[in-house]
Amino acid sequence: MNAAPPTVPIPNPLLAQPDFAVTAALEAEVNELLTHYPEKRAASLMVLHAIQDRFGWISQQAVEWTAKKLGLQPINVYELVTFYPMLRQRPMGKHQIKVCRTLSCALGGAHELHEHFCRKLGLDARAHGPQTTKDGKFTVEFVECLASCGTAPVMMCNDNFYEAVSQKRADEIVAECE
Ligand code: FES
Repeated sequence: MNAAPPTVPIPNPLLAQPDFAVTAALEAEVNELLTHYPEKRAASLMVLHAIQDRFGWISQQAVEWTAKKLGLQPINVYELVTFYPMLRQRPMGKHQIKVCRTLSCALGGAHELHEHFCRKLGLDARAHGPQTTKDGKFTVEFVECLASCGTAPVMMCNDNFYEAVSQKRADEIVAECE
């Protein structure tokens, strides 16, 4: 049997998470996921999703743990994390508000809706990328088409989908999270 190749450090590490620790429950979930795939590598994205569901983001330690678990090099996992925008490279707020900004929604008021959320939550609507409140409760960001272009503007809050969102409805969505 061949020995596992030595681990090669990744060239551009993600943020560190010194207290990263995989619980028995998470490990069991990952082990169960692996049973669905002919080879461990094929489960990479699902394993990363499971880790992100637990921690909210993917850290340097998470990449290293995943690589070891799947018999890969850290770079093989790192390239997934940096390719797929749904994999988070930094901690996010407890509640994630995603406003679609693609054409129909842009014409339907997406930018005004995004600005409304930012103003309400004390965030800078003009800053680049996801913005998180200081208390870690909310992250607001733009995303691309959420596939309901006829009911613009549309958005998501966590796993919930909202169509034709007015500013009044936006206030209610925030209130429902508090
Ligand atoms: S443009 Fe917003 S859902 Fe398609």
